[in-house]
Amino acid sequence: MAATDLERFCNEEKRNLSLGGHVGFDSLPDQLVSKSVTQGFSFNILCVGETGIGKSTLMNTLFNTTFETEEASHYENAVRLRPRTYDLLESNVHLKLTIVDAVGFGDQINKDESYRPVVDYIDTQFENYLQEELKIRRSLFNYHDTRIHVCLYFITPTGHSLKSLDLVTMKKLDSKVNIIPIIAKADTISKSELHKFKIKIMSELVSNGVQIYQFPTDDEAVTEINSVMNAHLPFAVVGSTEEVKVGNKLVRARQYPWGVVQVENESHCDFVKLREMLIRVNMEDLREQTHTRHYELYRRCKLEEMGFKDTDPDSQPFSLQETYETKRKEFLGELQKKEEEMRQMFVNKVKETESELKEKERELHEKFEHLKRIHQEEKRKVEEKRRELEEEMNAFNRRKLAVETLQSQSLQATSQQPLKKDKDKKNFFSLPSACSITSGRHVN
Ligand code: GTP
Ligand code: MG
Repeated sequence: MAATDLERFCNEEKRNLSLGGHVGFDSLPDQLVSKSVTQGFSFNILCVGETGIGKSTLMNTLFNTTFETEEASHYENAVRLRPRTYDLLESNVHLKLTIVDAVGFGDQINKDESYRPVVDYIDTQFENYLQEELKIRRSLFNYHDTRIHVCLYFITPTGHSLKSLDLVTMKKLDSKVNIIPIIAKADTISKSELHKFKIKIMSELVSNGVQIYQFPTDDEAVTEINSVMNAHLPFAVVGSTEEVKVGNKLVRARQYPWGVVQVENESHCDFVKLREMLIRVNMEDLREQTHTRHYELYRRCKLEEMGFKDTDPDSQPFSLQETYETKRKEFLGELQKKEEEMRQMFVNKVKETESELKEKERELHEKFEHLKRIHQEEKRKVEEKRRELEEEMNAFNRRKLAVETLQSQSLQATSQQPLKKDKDKKNFFSLPSACSITSGRHVN
């Protein structure tokens, strides 16, 4: 059945009946209220502003209590988000209040990335909620919702204009959170300057396309007050936890040598306007806007990123199951492709390694053959040398033998010669004439 047919069918079926007596479903709103009260509420405020601009003081003033705070140093390397959660009770309404401080905002020399930790923090809270929603067994009923409902953007009371850091940060945040810009320490700026400053800020926000939170005017009960308050934005606030006696009343104020600035005096600052708008009139709208506008946008983008769509290319409704099946098939296909690629890669790698190993083996073999040849050559040379040396040794031995033979012969010869001499000597002395002849010749 087409959608239009179904509508017609339902309209035809819808009938107004008058009741014969009291049934009791008119108590539904009361049931809702009582359920909500029992369950309690959560409200999360993000404070973005320079270190020492008065964030903690304003929070203490707004909730009329003292939250634990520590002064931030001016030497943070990067902006850091510090959430603190408190359980508050007013009458019998429980409020889980989370105040998130952007610690170190505006303190870095390079402020290009100052907005990023803030954006990431907001996204992380959306992601956590989405993950809870997508769980099979979800417990959204008692889930601690940490999504940021409002961002109080503290503007430094320079009296000139917005800083580029303010414009960039607000621009990055405006699609993710309800921004309420406030001029901090408004007691440091004169009335006429403040008026001009407010106009300047608003015109700069408009010209830079920054969307700030507008108090809703569609609910008749608050249309008037909200439209008046929209014209007062940005609120110029003063914070103080100090109590000063004015007349015979103790009021929260800041005391100066020249007078007293009363926080809750509407002619001194817009603190009361901010408290009215933020807490008393529009707290629920801020929570609703966070869920229906900002979270919805995040969820839609995230699901589209994951491949989910409401309609197919022919603008026909696309069921979640079909999308899931298609995605699953796509995923399995991709997985198979990846597996095949990896297998191919592995085979190639093995082949590569195998051929590398073969090449190495061949090189080693060649090296071995080469060494073997060198070794054989060396061996041959040594063998030749040995032979030569042997021959030399043999020749030497032969020569030695010959010399020895000669020596022994000559020795024999010399040992026979004295015998002969003795014989000769004997013969000589036995012949005196001969001697005389010799001596006679000698005398002559
Ligand atoms: P960090 O958390 O350290 O970044 O500081 P903060 O932004 O929380 O500022 P904090 O509330 O600690 O205030 C810093 C100083 O400013 C204190 O001395 C406050 O008394 C003073 N201060 C706070 N609000 C105002 C204000 O509205 N006007 C003036 N003149 N001073 C204020
Ligand atoms: Mg602080």
